Amino acid sequence: MSYQAKMRVWRGDESGGDLQDYSVEVNEGEVVLDIIHRLQQTQTGDLAVRWNCKAGKCGSCSAEINGRPRLMCMTRMSTFDEAETITVTPLRTFPVIRDLVTDVSFNYEKAREIPSFTPPKDLQPGEYRMMQEDVNRSQEFRKCIECFLCQNVCHVNRDHEENKKAFSGPRYLMRQTELDMHPLDTRANRSVQAQEENGLGFCNITKCCTEVCPEHIKITDNALIPLKERAADRKYDPVVWLGNKLFRR
Ligand code: SF4
Ligand code: SF4
Ligand code: FES
Repeated sequence: MSYQAKMRVWRGDESGGDLQDYSVEVNEGEVVLDIIHRLQQTQTGDLAVRWNCKAGKCGSCSAEINGRPRLMCMTRMSTFDEAETITVTPLRTFPVIRDLVTDVSFNYEKAREIPSFTPPKDLQPGEYRMMQEDVNRSQEFRKCIECFLCQNVCHVNRDHEENKKAFSGPRYLMRQTELDMHPLDTRANRSVQAQEENGLGFCNITKCCTEVCPEHIKITDNALIPLKERAADRKYDPVVWLGNKLFRR
């Protein structure tokens, strides 16, 4: 059964813009991205929108739908009342390029600041051995599709442009945790580096990042809180401090 949805979409570019109203046909089973595509096909040929997989796996169709950061391809129209006006706006934390497309290069810059996995020098490919328990711990973090919804929602950068230099955001603090937990990573003190260079101390564990993650990764409980505990242990526990001096990890 089809109906006409009331869509309110942000149109503009880096110099400014506004919300514009449209009426767009909706058919059974469709998601917000289908409606944005129909709008583009029938009324606004120049509407800019980024997408790739339409399956919740590429992380490129991130936007704010009624103010909540979500993947457009995973948001069913049936979750809204037919009479409701559905507002679609670009991610607020990153600069707008045009319409619903933002410049997310901030995230790639932060990714480059995290030192890569560093296995022991004398270990040859094929000799890597890990306990299944260690594999399982970081497996959750590897589900990340880099949609940047967590990076967008976190209030530390969302409301304070001036924090961006010092705060890497939940996705990249989670990457530090993943590598800090890796038994074959030889870089000492990733958790202290996260505290001192990636802004871990800005995080006040509000869990907003966890709430918006489409992969349901428990970012706060399983990555950020353990990283804070590890940083505190490494810095202030004299036994751990001595162990680090003697054994490097
Ligand atoms: S838990 Fe930390 S990283 Fe996540 S949204 Fe809150 S302040 Fe940001
Ligand atoms: S952790 Fe979740 S919300 Fe953040 S970028 Fe990865 S998939 Fe997206
Ligand atoms: S289009 Fe790939 S996640 Fe939505």
